[in-house]
Formats: sequence, structure tokens, C-alpha cells
Amino acid sequence: MSQILTIRTPDDWHLHLRDGAMLRAVLPETTRHFARAIIMPNLVPPVITGADARAYQGRIMDALPENSNFTPLMTLYLTEDTDADDLAAAHKSGLIHAVKLYPAGATTNSASGVADFDKVRGVLDRMAEIGCPLLVHGEVTDADIDIFDREAVFIDRVLDPIRRTTPDLRVVMEHITTSQGVDYVRGAGKNLAATITTHHLIINRNHILVGGIKPHYYCLPVAKRESHRLALRAAATSGDARFFLGTDSAPHTDAGKLSACGCAGCFTATNTMSILAQVFEDEQALNTLEGFTSLNGPAFYGLPVNETTLTLTKGTAIDYGEKIITEEGEVTLFDPGFSLHWHVTP
Ligand code: NCD
Ligand code: ZN
Repeated sequence: MSQILTIRTPDDWHLHLRDGAMLRAVLPETTRHFARAIIMPNLVPPVITGADARAYQGRIMDALPENSNFTPLMTLYLTEDTDADDLAAAHKSGLIHAVKLYPAGATTNSASGVADFDKVRGVLDRMAEIGCPLLVHGEVTDADIDIFDREAVFIDRVLDPIRRTTPDLRVVMEHITTSQGVDYVRGAGKNLAATITTHHLIINRNHILVGGIKPHYYCLPVAKRESHRLALRAAATSGDARFFLGTDSAPHTDAGKLSACGCAGCFTATNTMSILAQVFEDEQALNTLEGFTSLNGPAFYGLPVNETTLTLTKGTAIDYGEKIITEEGEVTLFDPGFSLHWHVTP
């Protein structure tokens, strides 16, 4: 019996598109299935000002495949020197939809991030006033905090104090990886939401480390133990509107990944929708897939849902290939470890 599901066209609320040749190579992988995406600003140098965001938006538009209606939703990268007036003007004009907080040194290209959170207090107050969401990479960077504990400690030491001081600030915890993250969102009010990636619904830390190290499963925040993965699956499929998809699809070349000091990031843009349909089917929750991919995100960001639809049909095994070819080198596609049968038709 063939199964068919038609949903509003999805959006990706956390995406790395990079720039130049990599941008041109990976952008079609997203535009094939997604109508909009929140574009991460961690370029080198980062997207800090409204002018930077305008220029980057232009480069993305220039790289779009012909006849694409894809809309990049731009963000700024918060630094200790961010100009609140520039930020507010970029938000008011509709150019930017959020501002990203990277604790300095937390992840790929985060060297210009925030080290002293008191220095951004004024900017956060202004964001609360104008209703501009703060997207947080929720990991502390203290050398004495174990990498598997960094998200939970961030909630206690950084996020909760910020939210108490600035209760009107709208916050998205990006790519949550722990049951503490899930519980913190569930216990909060309407100003807090969280994105969940595709890969964190599939892998736990054993996938990275058992039977030989698997660099293509290494991302940040790093996947945690199985109980956390199960908490994420429960949250994603629950129908709770505070959880929505942010793939965190983060392309790195194989040379960058397969190295003595390999880069963090999983590339999932291409096969995300087929993977998610399988996850939601396995959880007997296909009825909540549309909320997770297409309804909850727009509701939080105050944007209309997409008018177009996407159809998912269960059939023969799909071969998405192993790699995307770019002028910078090959990028390996995330392997969920099971065959994919949900065909995606825009
Ligand atoms: C991202 C990247 O490569 O830019 N990497 C990752 O492991 N997720 C950065 C990030 O979102 O942390
Ligand atoms: Zn990311």
C-alpha cells in the first residue's frame, strides 16, 4: 500500500549556506524542498552589520537556481561591538529576522562571538523592545566543563540569567541536543522555542565513537547519549509548537572533515525531508510532521505559512548519492544508516 502525505512546503530555521563556490553548490540542495531558511551568519568574516547582511543576501539571490522562489531569511552575528541602532534598522526594514549569539570559541567560525555577556546587555534590551529574536548557540566554552555537559551548563549559567533579566526577549535555543534543553523549553512561556536538527534525531554519541571514529557524524553541539536522542524525538514529534526544524546543515569539504583536527558539521540539506518522514512514521507521528517542518517556525517568527505544498510518497529505496561535488572539494551527505523510502515531490 502506498502512503502519501501532502504538507505545506517546509522551511529550515537554521541553515549554513557559506559563500562563493560552496554557496553555489549547496544552495540547490535546500531550495529543492524548502521555501525559506534562516541563514546563519558565521562566515569569515562574519555577517555583523545590516550592510553585511544586505550584501550576503544579494550573493545568495545571485546563486539561486533559475525559477526558484526561495527566500533567504537573514540574520546578524552578535559581537560585543554590535551597534543596536544598525541592528534595529535592519530588523525594521525586514532585512534581518533574528540575531545569532555564539559564545566566543563555541563552534565553527565563532572567534568573534561574545565572551562577556554583560557587554551585550544593552543590545539584548533593544532586541526585546523591537521583538527581534535572539538565536543562541547554547554551549559554554569553559575549558573545565566537559563537552557533553556544555549545553546543560549554558542553560543554567547563561541562558536562564539572560531570560530573567530580559523576560521580553524572544529566544530560540538552536539545535538542542539534551533532555535538559527539551525540559527547559517545555517549562518556559511563549518567548522561548527550540530548533532540532535532523541528525540529532538519528545519532547518539555511540554513532560517532564506536567501532572507529566517524568524522561525518561529528557536529556541534556534539550528539549526546541515547536518552537525550529519545527526548529530542519525543519533543520533535509531540506537536508542541515550540519545537521546529532547523537542520543546521553545515557543509565542510571531506578534506576539512577527514583530518587530525576535523571540522564540526553534518550536511543534511539533500535528504532531510526523506529522513524526517521516516522518523515521524517510526514514531507513529506523521500527523505532526507538517507542524514541525512547516507551521511552528513561521508561527514563532510571525511569518505566514507557505502557500505551496510538498508531497511525500512512500515507495522504493531512494539513492541520494554519497557526495555533493563543489569547486572547493567534495561534501559528504549525512548517512542516516537506514534506507530512505519517502520520495519528495515539490
Ligand atoms: C556549524 C558550522 O559548520 O558552521 N557546525 C556545526 O557543527 N553545527 C556551526 C554551528 O552551528 O555550530
Ligand atoms: Zn549551525
